[in-house]
Amino acid sequence: MSIIEIEQLTKSYRVYQKKEGLREAIRGLFHREYKTVDAVRGISLRVEPGEFVAFLGPNGAGKTTTLKLLSGVIYPSSGSATVMGFTPWLRDMEYRRRFALVMGQKNQLWWDLPAQESFRLHQQIYCIDPTSFKKTLDELTDLLDVTRLLGRPVRELSLGERMKMELIAALLHSPDVLFLDEPTIGLDVVAQHNIQQFLKHYQEQRKITILLTSHYMKDVSALCERVVVIAQGIIQYDGSLSGITDEFSGFKVVQLQLALGQSHAGLERFGELIKINPPRVSLKIPKQQVSKVLAEILNTFSVDDVAVEDPPLEEVIAKMFHSMAN
Ligand SMILES: Nc1ncnc2c1ncn2[C@@H]1O[C@H](COP(=O)(O)OP(=O)(O)OP(=O)(O)O)[C@@H](O)[C@H]1O
Ligand SMILES: [Mg+2]
Repeated sequence: MSIIEIEQLTKSYRVYQKKEGLREAIRGLFHREYKTVDAVRGISLRVEPGEFVAFLGPNGAGKTTTLKLLSGVIYPSSGSATVMGFTPWLRDMEYRRRFALVMGQKNQLWWDLPAQESFRLHQQIYCIDPTSFKKTLDELTDLLDVTRLLGRPVRELSLGERMKMELIAALLHSPDVLFLDEPTIGLDVVAQHNIQQFLKHYQEQRKITILLTSHYMKDVSALCERVVVIAQGIIQYDGSLSGITDEFSGFKVVQLQLALGQSHAGLERFGELIKINPPRVSLKIPKQQVSKVLAEILNTFSVDDVAVEDPPLEEVIAKMFHSMAN
């Protein structure tokens, strides 16, 4: 049995449609008109224990909705899902003790209390015995380097510090499955990197199963081998990260280091010049033509060094989302 099993899961929201104008607004008080938004339109997915899966998709694709379904925050419209054998929306206490949800856009800690007070509350809610509570807390605060901030009201913490505290709160009861919804949103690159490193380390140590959504491709490339792409409520791709690059890019980026005195004039006829920073120049070249074009370039230009790379992941993903929307 897979640790997460999702079968034809759907979720439609009923939203009140407000009409323009006073007359319509008054009418709306008595006759509300609703429309349905199909946020998740029949997804099926299996995740094995210990996988760290990236769940990607453009805004409004249905990622958060899926994570909320899997956390039992909302009920589905149809379909089924089990996580570790539990049906999330039945809200079994035993299930709650074994998973956690972290939402980068939402605070779960008490704003006016120091984080350590919220952590104590968690200890009680999840019935964590004092010895393992202390051990886990010490370990996590140490790893995330926030021990000195435990006594400060959460509202006084920076965004990055707060996110670290949110992660600690989520991990105090040592969940086997973790849902992370944009845990690095709004953080600067250093804080983002710290959180990535922490997650990587933690996951490698504990082998827990993680489903992560993020709009930052750095998070994905640092952490996940498997990528599931959802758009318009439907799974569009499920496979390796490199598979995406292959399937959707079709280009390679060739970086040249030109020899002293060699001008880059004329290189544009081989491909799109995407970066000119003499003596370094980058060209975008269709994948099938790389070896042929490179040979021609080396024949005509004096080049000190060459590197062939995949296009930046951001660009590939943007292209993929674009093709899915059309
Ligand atoms: N509580 C709600 N009521 C009505 N519609 C909702 C609700 N939550 C989400 N939706 C709609 O469902 C769709 C999917 O939203 P969801 O939040 O799952 O997207 P997402 O993939 O997480 O996007 P983002 O990357 O912007 O976070 C959107 O069209 C959204 O407007
Ligand atoms: Mg979301």
